Amino acid sequence: APAELLVVGSANADLVTRVERHPAPGETVLGSDLAVHPGGKGANQAVAAARLGARAALLARVGDDAHGRMLLESLRTAGVDTAPVLTGGAPTGVALIAVGARGDNTIVVSPGANARLTPEDVAAAHGVLAGAAVVSLQMEVPAPVVAAAARAAAAAGTRVVLNPSPPGELPDDVLAVCDPLVVNEHEARGLLGGAGAPRDPGEQARALLALGPRSVVVTLGAAGALHRGPGGTVRVPSPAVEAVDTTGAGDAFTGALAWRLARGDTPEAAVRFAVRVGAAAVTRPGAQSSFPTAGALPR
Ligand code: RIB
Ligand code: NA
Repeated sequence: APAELLVVGSANADLVTRVERHPAPGETVLGSDLAVHPGGKGANQAVAAARLGARAALLARVGDDAHGRMLLESLRTAGVDTAPVLTGGAPTGVALIAVGARGDNTIVVSPGANARLTPEDVAAAHGVLAGAAVVSLQMEVPAPVVAAAARAAAAAGTRVVLNPSPPGELPDDVLAVCDPLVVNEHEARGLLGGAGAPRDPGEQARALLALGPRSVVVTLGAAGALHRGPGGTVRVPSPAVEAVDTTGAGDAFTGALAWRLARGDTPEAAVRFAVRVGAAAVTRPGAQSSFPTAGALPR
């Protein structure tokens, strides 16, 4: 059966060490033994959705190397359709991740093969894109790729979900087709001009909607998430969980959200489901390795 969700985005090998506290610039700290996990915001979203039961496909590029094979294996084991995944041209992307004592992280991404994904690759996947109900995008691949996918989706009647992470160039016509634009509070402040931006998430959502997207979701970490569309604002609390490693929790949330929207859920129902998926993901180490099956969701 054709994919109901197409994710276009990155695939990274996550090189993770735990630290007691994060180093300041110029400082050295010792971390734990190194763990290597499959990650990348695009691959994470696709795995999160597939593990929950979605028919999800991923358009990405990995290197012809051990990290690329690890990622393909994780994707296939979760049930992601990897037919659109391209191989070679550069080493697989790597994310250098330090996880702090409270499960908080800092991440530096070296894009590698992710930077070689092109708008032509999006055009070559047009059949999958037009056949899907939702295409989900993030910004660890080149901005022209994100724009090409958003525009092609809009033209084909495929709904666009976009998480602008890491923040970067976002043309008005791309912003205008996001339904929803998914941001955390940090990304919201960046889009709203930094220091002068509202602090209240409800005000942030209102201001973000005024920038042009069809709808907005602001994720609030342990406090859940907030949806704002033409019909108003809904605030959804998160189940209380103990945070071990928040890496990839936002991707799990967005992958789950995109899938439930593809299945025809109302935005509110989709957000209610997605906060449970994000909450489950913070209770275990790693990104993809921490994503739940439908049977393992907190109430
Ligand atoms: O969002 C978490 C992800 O960000 C990690 O898996 C890492 O690969 C970076 O892309
Ligand atoms: Na996690």
